Amino acid sequence: MTSSIIPVDLLAAATNLNYFPSILPATEPTITLLAYQESFATDLLGPNVTARKVYDLPWQAFHEGGVYQKSTNSMYIASNWAGSLDNPVNITIIDMADLSLTSTRYEGLYEANGGTTWYPPGSDTSGTPPAMLWCDEGDFTHPSGLVSVEVPSNETKPVVSYFLGRNFSSVNDVRQHPITGDIWFTDADYGFFQFFRPTPTIPKQVYRFEPTTGIIQVVADGFDESNGLEFSPDLKTLYVTDTGAQHFGPNQTRPATIYAFDVTEDMKQLKNRRTFAYADSGFPDGIHCDTEGNVWSGCGDGVHVWNTDGILLGKIHLGETSNNFAFYPGGMLVFSNSRMWQVSGIKAVGREVCKDFGVCDGSTGGIGWGQGYKGHW
Ligand SMILES: *[C@@H]1O[C@H](CO)[C@@H](O)[C@H](O)[C@H]1NC(C)=O
Ligand SMILES: *[C@@H]1O[C@H](CO)[C@@H](O)[C@H](O)[C@H]1NC(C)=O
Ligand SMILES: *[C@@H]1O[C@H](CO)[C@@H](O)[C@H](O)[C@H]1NC(C)=O
Ligand SMILES: *[C@@H]1O[C@H](CO)[C@@H](O)[C@H](O)[C@H]1NC(C)=O
Ligand SMILES: *[C@@H]1O[C@H](CO)[C@@H](O)[C@H](O)[C@H]1NC(C)=O
Repeated sequence: MTSSIIPVDLLAAATNLNYFPSILPATEPTITLLAYQESFATDLLGPNVTARKVYDLPWQAFHEGGVYQKSTNSMYIASNWAGSLDNPVNITIIDMADLSLTSTRYEGLYEANGGTTWYPPGSDTSGTPPAMLWCDEGDFTHPSGLVSVEVPSNETKPVVSYFLGRNFSSVNDVRQHPITGDIWFTDADYGFFQFFRPTPTIPKQVYRFEPTTGIIQVVADGFDESNGLEFSPDLKTLYVTDTGAQHFGPNQTRPATIYAFDVTEDMKQLKNRRTFAYADSGFPDGIHCDTEGNVWSGCGDGVHVWNTDGILLGKIHLGETSNNFAFYPGGMLVFSNSRMWQVSGIKAVGREVCKDFGVCDGSTGGIGWGQGYKGHW
């Protein structure tokens, strides 16, 4: 358990290659809070922050997602691909009341990756989202696409499996636009790179899908590996991570970059692609904004946090790769494959916490989270 925040001396780091090793713990992985700017300590973490390791398991239970469902008060996390179609990706279920853990698989969801909460067409948007939407990377016999999962019934339903008769490669991450209800998602090649998908037959792109009409369009291309995506809280910006630095193996000359786009006025397309941030360690993968617009992304040594100008504010440093993480009221769970970590007592509020948990007043939650979100569509 740690509650101290280490201030980073950026001028020292600018000229001393041994600066970071000198301030980091000798034994890793260990959770360390690093403030590259003072505001990370004062405004985002705050005086009550504590951080600890919760799980260290013999399998990689914590890889992607982090999708909360109010009906079961549980967080659903995709495990990492374990190298065999005989041991497909699990969904790890964390009961938020006591952080106890179980694993499951859902019929019709083969190799889950990123996921989100969502309101299927016709559902009541005055409460918390009644379902999860998972990216299914598919395998040699099942296509890659988006699969809806409802709990506690565990009913699954394919939502998008093809782009107008073409196969996706390995659908990676997804968000639902909170005003239009459209589904925005990315496609990458990781199933091919990990030998459970055929040779890709389509570029790496970002898609917009209308779940009520079936309209699907490509809204961005030109990625090495389009991966995580996230809207800013004002919905005017879409961030897309490019994990091109990892194919079959790592290559640090390729992108480890977050691109920002303006969302057009009609909320249907993108313009003004620009480089938002480049991660100094690994690559930005899963990505979430807080309600102030700061951008948090899982990278090679933990979670990095940038302000809206793309300035690195701080890190939740683990000393190992974090692919994703999930905010809850007053804290976050951080996933690093075989380990799960918890940062509690933070001031930052995840962009989707109000919608997903029904807690909209910034309170720290706990058992008895109340309703409160009023959906827009
Ligand atoms: C820190 O915790 C104290 C005691 O529970 C509480 O009164 C205070 O509001 C908290 N501060 C922040 C910034 O959350
Ligand atoms: C699924 O979970 C079980 C434990 O419940 C574990 O033994 C197995 O290795 C896991 N498989 C994957 C792919 O994570
Ligand atoms: C699409 O993928 C399926 C396997 O999911 C495969 O059987 C089929 O041949 C692929 N089609 C094309 C046009 O690549
Ligand atoms: C749904 O899955 C959970 C987790 O595996 C299990 O505990 C529960 O019994 C299942 N419910 C139904 C209705 O099958
Ligand atoms: C790394 O990627 C670059 C750009 O694709 C390529 O030119 C280079 O050969 C790669 N290096 C290695 C060692 O594979």
